[in-house]
Amino acid sequence: MKKTQAAPICEIDFYAESTIRKPVPVYHQMLDLGTVVWLERNDMHAICGHEALVSSLRNHQVFSSAKGVSVDDEINKVLIGSSLNSDPPQHDESRKTTGHVGFGAGVHACLGMNLARLEMISLLNSLADKCSLLKLPGR
Ligand code: HEM
Repeated sequence: MKKTQAAPICEIDFYAESTIRKPVPVYHQMLDLGTVVWLERNDMHAICGHEALVSSLRNHQVFSSAKGVSVDDEINKVLIGSSLNSDPPQHDESRKTTGHVGFGAGVHACLGMNLARLEMISLLNSLADKCSLLKLPGR
């Protein structure tokens, strides 16, 4: 990757074992430098902080995923066109969850699928009641 504009230079090694083992202090170090930093030792930019990251992930016109989202160009090439390495509308198409075959399809489609769904909803509701960290939409 080419360094295209001046961003504060960060000296940390993002892939060092110490970073992987204890990342939070490193994230703070990066964020203290700015919302975008240049990781000199890893030869790449990093977007820091939740808000900056979410807004860039939602801006596919500027931050396209079509050519890949990995730091490894070989992996990027292999995954082009997948749900990972694509932008809308292709991305939305590949992410559609309707039409799965978890219950089979056609004449031998699962006869108990509606009962199974009901059981799963009931299970998730009971779990959500017991675990305050788990939030279900609309509850
Ligand atoms: C998460 C739960 C379940 C999953 C993932 C599941 C999945 C499946 C799948 C994939 C098939 C199709 C097999 C094939 O193509 O030959 C199937 C068939 C079937 N399932 Fe389920 N099932 C579940 C729960 C249930 C329950 C709760 C019942 C009954 C109360 C049930 C009754 C049946 C029956 C009778 C068939 C045979 C349908 C036929 O061959 O015509 N299933 N299930």
